[in-house]
Amino acid sequence: MSISFYETTKTFHLCDQKISYIMTVLPNGHLGQLYFGKKVHQREDYPYLYETAVRPMTSYVFEDDCSLSLEHVRQEYGVYGTTDPRRPAVEILQPDGSRICDLQYKGHEIMRGKPPLAGLPATYTEQDDEAETLRVVLEDALTGVVVELLYTIFTQGGILARSARITNAGTGSVHLTTAMSLCMDLPDCDYEWLQFSGAWARERHLKVRKLEQGIQAVDSRRGHSSHEHNPFIVLKRPGTDECQGEAIGFSLVYSGNFLAQAEVDTHDTTRVLMGIHPMGFDWKLDAGESFQTPEAVMVYTDQGLNDMSQTFHRLYQKRLVRGSWRDRPRPILINNWEATYFDFTEDRLMEIAARARECGVELFVLDDGWFGARKNDHAGLGDWVADPKRLPRGITGLAERIEGLGMLFGLWIEPEMVNKDSDLYRAHPDWILATPGRRTSQGRHQYVLDFSRPEVVDCLYEMLAKILREAKVSYIKWDMNRSITECYSAALPPDRQGEVFHRYILGVYDLYERLHRDFPHVLFESCASGGGRFDPGLLYYAPQAWASDDSDAVERLKIQYGTSFCYPISSIGSHVSAVPNHQVFRHTPLHTRANVAYFGTFGYELDLNRMTKEELAQVKEQTAFMKEYREILQFGTFYRLESPFEGNITCWMTVSEDRKKAIVGWYRVLNHANMPFSRVRLQGLDLDLLYENLETKETFYGDELMNIGLITSDGMSGQVGENTDGYGDFDSRLYVFRAVRED
Ligand code: DGJ
Repeated sequence: MSISFYETTKTFHLCDQKISYIMTVLPNGHLGQLYFGKKVHQREDYPYLYETAVRPMTSYVFEDDCSLSLEHVRQEYGVYGTTDPRRPAVEILQPDGSRICDLQYKGHEIMRGKPPLAGLPATYTEQDDEAETLRVVLEDALTGVVVELLYTIFTQGGILARSARITNAGTGSVHLTTAMSLCMDLPDCDYEWLQFSGAWARERHLKVRKLEQGIQAVDSRRGHSSHEHNPFIVLKRPGTDECQGEAIGFSLVYSGNFLAQAEVDTHDTTRVLMGIHPMGFDWKLDAGESFQTPEAVMVYTDQGLNDMSQTFHRLYQKRLVRGSWRDRPRPILINNWEATYFDFTEDRLMEIAARARECGVELFVLDDGWFGARKNDHAGLGDWVADPKRLPRGITGLAERIEGLGMLFGLWIEPEMVNKDSDLYRAHPDWILATPGRRTSQGRHQYVLDFSRPEVVDCLYEMLAKILREAKVSYIKWDMNRSITECYSAALPPDRQGEVFHRYILGVYDLYERLHRDFPHVLFESCASGGGRFDPGLLYYAPQAWASDDSDAVERLKIQYGTSFCYPISSIGSHVSAVPNHQVFRHTPLHTRANVAYFGTFGYELDLNRMTKEELAQVKEQTAFMKEYREILQFGTFYRLESPFEGNITCWMTVSEDRKKAIVGWYRVLNHANMPFSRVRLQGLDLDLLYENLETKETFYGDELMNIGLITSDGMSGQVGENTDGYGDFDSRLYVFRAVRED
């Protein structure tokens, strides 16, 4: 890993064992992009990468000189208004009404390690030798605005983290109306665009389309990263699949409004922009003030999508997630939401917990309904004090009883919201986001607290810290159940209202940071009506996220498969729930529900007291299995093998770091009669190791399992009267392999 600068040609070359990223200062002083891809030799100059075509309908920078049009060269942080008509990375509204800026290279600095981004989540290093960072300084002389572009390259390889800091070093005020985290100009458009989209209970479904001239984008304008689109896209070559080929993943470490877009221009080059959504964004920079964009992370691979995902998984697992839970297998939990909804008493909770404890569950989580006047979702949000009718000894008393069973205790909160029927709202009606003179819309009968105001965040901190100081709480599920509307803060002047969405998220991060710092033993799980804020920003504070309110095993195949493109398995909140399932009313076998949930944090969301003896015995086996294998399930190297978006079969697997253990999850949605023979080629094994299937005791060499494949059709075409072990439809298998010999 190194960052070099060639003074004579003003060329930068960032590289590691896998990638090169090359930039140069253009003749007009702007920073130009030359190359991003598989590693190439370092040279002082790459003149053939600088495009000087003379074309009709083109505007050129210099008079009597047609060698430079910003439209034809690739740029690092493009600006609109002169010779480049593409969407810009930055737009600054100046006192004279103009938005043009001329960002001239002024200097740079190369640092060991990686500096933190003030107030924002970001990838980090523990030792300075894990990364190098380049800071390039650009300046617009007329306004005095300075743009600092940060580029970090890691020893891990294949990764480039980027962000921008914009400072008004002039004398007047300016307004930042676009400030992207990343602008990446690619030399062609021969890519397929992958996005991870859907809806509530249908999050992160993979959608693929070919890039075409024009703009393709995903975004959120809801104030949270959203169920609709994840702040993650991939550009892959048409021939790329899971195991081979080129792809670039773009991931935004942010939880608010975002834009991820690719613009294919008239000459088939592609500009990728990623950052805070410019719509509604207007950040006033008085003289001397700065704005820091969130971080965007790019991962390049020439070895297929699994390799790209594994790079994201390692980076996010080890250098984005922080704290005492980062490297620890996650406790098996039971959550009472789908078991009771709002209808519970302390004794009922204890019954659920006690049965779960008997079955090997380690953590009991009390979900919504324990506080204030919260009998249903019309009241109580904002009053974070236990309801004495339901919990006579408060959270402290319940937590003690749960701990007395030998379990950890966890609690649900939704700190960003308030019901009008709450003491908090009655005391501070101006603490909600609401536009003066306009109707204030509700969602789930609740309103959004103005987290852009420090006093609101302070108040919530005090209420929650009190509980965490007094009660033995080991886990917090932080929920968020509506999008932001009428986004306006009573505490900010009119010319700063375009800052509210971002200031809101900064407030959320601030509260998370303070709780994370002061209660480091607590495991946080983020949630937003399921997976409405499953993004890298929150992983910095909460190592795991509830992936979806859809807990049906079949629906979860797509959700978890899509999620795995960017996010580590240890971050994917996944539970076994009751049948018929509460979202899609499907009956799936218990073993399939567990086989899906194992590839995540694993837990139960049902009342085990309602199960039969046989089912309880199965649950005991499941928790024992998870305890034995969770290290490899959650932290192993994960491979997608067969896609639920392409057919009836889903298959994925995980391999231990030493490649001596592997677990394959195989799932079939519908059964059919007289099915063809089928096999699936495994990945990531040691070709020369002999592996034993722990159930059947059959042995296979790694090369057999990888080159010939694991036979999955054996015993699947049962005759009437045979024990077909399962219900036919929605069946699944787990194959556990352990190396028994090396040849
Ligand atoms: C939405 C979450 O996603 C659910 O798991 C549950 O916590 C409810 N909110 C509670 O209101």
